[in-house]
Amino acid sequence: MSNAVIEIRNLSKIYRDFWGRKKVQAVKSLSMDVMQGEVFGLLGPNGSGKTTTMKMLLGLLFPTSGEMTILGKPAADVTKNERIGYLPEESYLYRFLNADETLDFYGRLFNMTAADRARRADELIEMVGLGKARRRQLKEYSKGMTRRIGLAQALINDPDLVLLDEPTSGLDPTGTREMKDLIIQLKAQGKTVVMCSHQLADVQDVCDRIAVLFQGELKVLGRVDELLELRNEMQMRTPTLSDEAMADIRQVLKKHNVNDVEFSRPKADLEQLFLRTVRESGERPGRRFSTEEVAASGRG
Ligand SMILES: Nc1ncnc2c1ncn2[C@@H]1O[C@H](COP(=O)(O)OP(=O)(O)OP(=O)(O)O)[C@@H](O)[C@H]1O
Ligand SMILES: [Mg+2]
Repeated sequence: MSNAVIEIRNLSKIYRDFWGRKKVQAVKSLSMDVMQGEVFGLLGPNGSGKTTTMKMLLGLLFPTSGEMTILGKPAADVTKNERIGYLPEESYLYRFLNADETLDFYGRLFNMTAADRARRADELIEMVGLGKARRRQLKEYSKGMTRRIGLAQALINDPDLVLLDEPTSGLDPTGTREMKDLIIQLKAQGKTVVMCSHQLADVQDVCDRIAVLFQGELKVLGRVDELLELRNEMQMRTPTLSDEAMADIRQVLKKHNVNDVEFSRPKADLEQLFLRTVRESGERPGRRFSTEEVAASGRG
């Protein structure tokens, strides 16, 4: 078993109003660990306590009770944040700075030298695909571009642990795919990623383990592949079969008392269809694709 980067024990958060009266219990005795090098997904409906949990991990909010250790230090110790990157739900970036200036500003907060800041900004701007827009003020950025510069900012200090609050919100499918690839790339570099998202397909694609919160309580925790495996069914993939072949297969299975057999064509998913259309449209402008063409070309 690898090391825990985050250990949460009996964590609770009660938001109180101005007079100290209990308003909302946002997190209820939450206990869980996040391991070194994994991509961990926090899921749950609106208001289930995901953002509150992330903010407590960063030491931006104080828990009402419970303990948290992050990178071997208590959550309240802000020196640990030097090794953490955070993409907030809403960006708090300076609207009048451009991408270069933004990254330079955050680099200074981490006491990076001018040369390091310039090198790191080049790397990150390239990585998040903002090369063409790097000299434009952030107030002119689209939602997706804002998300991208937010990610670059979160990575300026080359953190070991990255907390991403809805990293794909507002991104088009191409941007979403790129963000997912970036997350996979971070994992490949040995970093630990914790993300919240309502985009379940994205979570399924990138997360190793997930936790589902409901009204501040942990309801499900486990490996995505194990949670989603249909243990009582099997599937076999072949080239298109003739009617005769299908009839023969049914006969064979009948001998084994299997009568419930379904033959169908697998479906490519909409993400792949979208990405391929965008890519091919760029290569061949002015062309439209027929359903037959799209279907015949199969997955990816
Ligand atoms: N500053 C605050 N003061 C009072 N209550 C708050 C505050 N911040 C959050 N809450 C409450 O805490 C609960 C959890 O909120 P939180 O933002 O953690 O949810 P979330 O899971 O991130 O939701 P979403 O999916 O909408 O982002 C909600 O009931 C919310 O109203
Ligand atoms: Mg939230």
